[in-house]
Amino acid sequence: MASGKFITFEGGEGAGKSTQARLLAERLRSVGHGVVETREPGGTKRGEQIRDLLLSGKARQYGPTGEAVLFCAARDDHVRDVIRPALERGEWVVCDRFADSTVAYQGAAGGVRPTLIRALNRVAVGETRPDLTVILDLPADAGLERAQARNTESAGDEGNGEVDRFEGMSGRFHEALRAGFLQIAAGAPDRCIVIDAQEAESAVAEEVWNAVVERLDP
Ligand code: TYD
Repeated sequence: MASGKFITFEGGEGAGKSTQARLLAERLRSVGHGVVETREPGGTKRGEQIRDLLLSGKARQYGPTGEAVLFCAARDDHVRDVIRPALERGEWVVCDRFADSTVAYQGAAGGVRPTLIRALNRVAVGETRPDLTVILDLPADAGLERAQARNTESAGDEGNGEVDRFEGMSGRFHEALRAGFLQIAAGAPDRCIVIDAQEAESAVAEEVWNAVVERLDP
């Protein structure tokens, strides 16, 4: 059966994942691949509903463990409805955040036990593991500054550029997050590549493309 490749982008706030995911998808299309671009939490109608619950902070009352369960419920739906079918059709999937975000946000930074997160991710992900994970690395304060600038730009007259559930966490949370992502990369060097997100957008895009060429032969 035809099988496409599955690439995920990970990192803290303001690292430029969404932009890099879009640039990579365009480049893959330009060499002739069918590409599905998607994101987490979300990617399906039901997943987007869970996203609203999580990012508005309404799910905060369930605590980090409850939030991890919700992220993984959305992931289960997303993998089954979008990611696995696309890969089976032979398309490439580029996903803005995936299972490593739960390991880093709810686990490393949020304090949920790693064994529990692994179990939840095993249920949600199954065999549909990424072929390549790009971790965009940035000092926590630089990322938060960028995320805040983005919020101000998008605020407009409606004043809707508010800080979401996780952007509003302490500097310590974001430092733990960064360390968490670096630890994930160190533990899975065949799957992960870490790229310095402080470089220019075009330089990061070039590094991403080189990694894809080297590892996945698109
Ligand atoms: P999003 O607006 O997509 O943020 P970003 O641009 O930083 O990717 O919001 C996703 C938020 O949800 C982000 O703060 C990270 C968080 N998150 C988790 O805490 N756990 C998860 O498993 C996932 C997928 C995301």
